[in-house]
Amino acid sequence: MAPATFNTINSWALGLTSSFIVGFAAEAIGKRIPLVTMPCVNSALASHPQFGRSVDVLRDAGVRVLLGDGGFIPNAPGQGQPGAFPWERALAVVRDT
Ligand SMILES: Cc1cc2nc3c(=O)[nH]c(=O)nc-3n(C[C@H](O)[C@H](O)[C@H](O)COP(=O)(O)O)c2cc1C
Repeated sequence: MAPATFNTINSWALGLTSSFIVGFAAEAIGKRIPLVTMPCVNSALASHPQFGRSVDVLRDAGVRVLLGDGGFIPNAPGQGQPGAFPWERALAVVRDT
Protein backbone atom coordinates (compact mmCIF):
# COMPACT_ATOMS: atom_id res chain seq x y z
CA MET A 1 0.00 0.00 0.00
CA ALA A 2 1.56 3.31 -1.05
CA PRO A 3 1.71 6.11 -0.45
CA ALA A 4 0.41 5.31 3.04
CA THR A 5 -0.62 8.28 5.15
CA PHE A 6 -0.08 8.78 8.85
CA ASN A 7 -3.78 8.02 9.26
CA THR A 8 -3.57 4.80 7.27
CA ILE A 9 -0.47 3.44 9.03
CA ASN A 10 -1.93 4.14 12.46
CA SER A 11 -5.37 2.81 11.53
CA TRP A 12 -3.90 -0.35 10.03
CA ALA A 13 -1.73 -1.02 13.08
CA LEU A 14 -4.56 -0.35 15.51
CA GLY A 15 -7.11 -2.35 13.54
CA LEU A 16 -9.39 0.62 12.92
CA THR A 17 -11.01 -0.45 9.69
CA SER A 18 -13.22 2.50 8.85
CA SER A 19 -11.99 2.55 5.25
CA PHE A 20 -12.29 -0.31 2.81
CA ILE A 21 -8.59 -0.39 2.00
CA VAL A 22 -7.46 -0.53 5.62
CA GLY A 23 -9.99 -3.29 6.32
CA PHE A 24 -8.71 -5.20 3.30
CA ALA A 25 -5.09 -4.76 4.41
CA ALA A 26 -5.90 -5.73 7.99
CA GLU A 27 -7.54 -8.93 6.81
CA ALA A 28 -4.59 -9.62 4.53
CA ILE A 29 -2.29 -9.77 7.56
CA GLY A 30 -4.43 -12.56 8.99
CA LYS A 31 -4.45 -14.35 5.63
CA ARG A 32 -0.65 -14.16 5.61
CA ILE A 33 -0.61 -12.44 2.24
CA PRO A 34 2.81 -10.81 1.64
CA LEU A 35 2.40 -7.09 2.23
CA VAL A 36 4.55 -4.09 1.45
CA THR A 37 3.83 -0.49 2.37
CA MET A 38 5.66 2.75 1.85
CA PRO A 39 4.49 5.60 4.09
CA CYS A 40 4.46 9.22 3.01
CA VAL A 41 4.65 11.32 6.16
CA ASN A 42 6.60 14.39 7.10
CA SER A 43 9.18 14.33 9.89
CA ALA A 44 6.83 15.95 12.40
CA LEU A 45 4.20 13.25 11.94
CA ALA A 46 6.88 10.57 11.84
CA SER A 47 8.08 11.66 15.28
CA HIS A 48 4.62 11.34 16.84
CA PRO A 49 4.92 8.58 19.46
CA GLN A 50 2.15 6.46 17.95
CA PHE A 51 3.68 6.40 14.48
CA GLY A 52 6.80 4.49 15.53
CA ARG A 53 4.69 2.08 17.52
CA SER A 54 2.43 1.52 14.53
CA VAL A 55 5.40 0.84 12.24
CA ASP A 56 6.73 -1.67 14.79
CA VAL A 57 3.35 -3.38 15.09
CA LEU A 58 3.07 -3.76 11.32
CA ARG A 59 6.63 -5.02 10.98
CA ASP A 60 6.07 -7.51 13.80
CA ALA A 61 3.00 -8.71 11.91
CA GLY A 62 5.14 -9.36 8.83
CA VAL A 63 4.42 -6.24 6.81
CA ARG A 64 7.43 -4.86 4.95
CA VAL A 65 7.38 -1.16 5.87
CA LEU A 66 9.65 0.83 3.54
CA LEU A 67 10.59 3.72 5.78
CA GLY A 68 14.06 5.14 6.39
CA ASP A 69 17.08 3.55 4.71
CA GLY A 70 15.91 1.86 1.52
CA GLY A 71 12.50 3.46 1.74
CA PHE A 72 10.74 6.78 2.16
CA ILE A 73 12.73 9.38 4.08
CA PRO A 74 10.36 11.82 5.84
CA ASN A 75 10.65 15.39 4.62
CA ALA A 76 10.40 18.52 6.76
CA PRO A 77 6.82 19.79 7.12
CA GLY A 78 5.83 21.84 4.08
CA GLN A 79 8.76 20.60 2.03
CA GLY A 80 7.23 17.51 0.47
CA GLN A 81 8.13 16.77 -3.13
CA PRO A 82 5.46 14.49 -4.57
CA GLY A 83 7.60 13.83 -7.64
CA ALA A 84 10.39 12.46 -5.44
CA PHE A 85 8.27 9.73 -3.85
CA PRO A 86 10.40 6.59 -4.41
CA TRP A 87 7.86 4.57 -6.38
CA GLU A 88 10.54 2.56 -8.14
CA ARG A 89 11.87 1.28 -4.83
CA ALA A 90 8.36 0.28 -3.71
CA LEU A 91 7.62 -1.47 -6.98
CA ALA A 92 10.98 -3.26 -6.96
CA VAL A 93 10.31 -4.63 -3.47
CA VAL A 94 6.80 -5.72 -4.47
CA ARG A 95 8.22 -7.50 -7.50
CA ASP A 96 10.65 -9.40 -5.26
CA THR A 97 8.08 -10.22 -2.57
C1 LIG B 1 -3.13 18.71 0.44
C2 LIG B 1 -3.00 17.64 1.49
C3 LIG B 1 -1.85 16.88 1.52
C4 LIG B 1 -1.69 15.89 2.50
N1 LIG B 1 -0.56 15.15 2.50
C5 LIG B 1 -0.40 14.19 3.43
C6 LIG B 1 0.79 13.41 3.46
O1 LIG B 1 1.69 13.56 2.63
N2 LIG B 1 0.91 12.45 4.42
C7 LIG B 1 -0.06 12.24 5.35
O2 LIG B 1 0.13 11.35 6.20
N3 LIG B 1 -1.20 12.97 5.36
C8 LIG B 1 -1.39 13.93 4.42
N4 LIG B 1 -2.54 14.67 4.43
C9 LIG B 1 -3.58 14.38 5.41
C10 LIG B 1 -4.44 13.22 4.95
O3 LIG B 1 -5.03 13.52 3.70
C11 LIG B 1 -5.55 12.92 5.99
O4 LIG B 1 -4.94 12.48 7.19
C12 LIG B 1 -6.52 11.86 5.49
O5 LIG B 1 -7.47 11.63 6.49
C13 LIG B 1 -5.80 10.56 5.14
O6 LIG B 1 -6.75 9.62 4.67
P1 LIG B 1 -6.28 8.17 4.19
O7 LIG B 1 -5.39 7.61 5.25
O8 LIG B 1 -7.55 7.39 4.02
O9 LIG B 1 -5.55 8.33 2.87
C14 LIG B 1 -2.72 15.65 3.45
C15 LIG B 1 -3.87 16.44 3.39
C16 LIG B 1 -4.00 17.42 2.45
C17 LIG B 1 -5.29 18.23 2.41
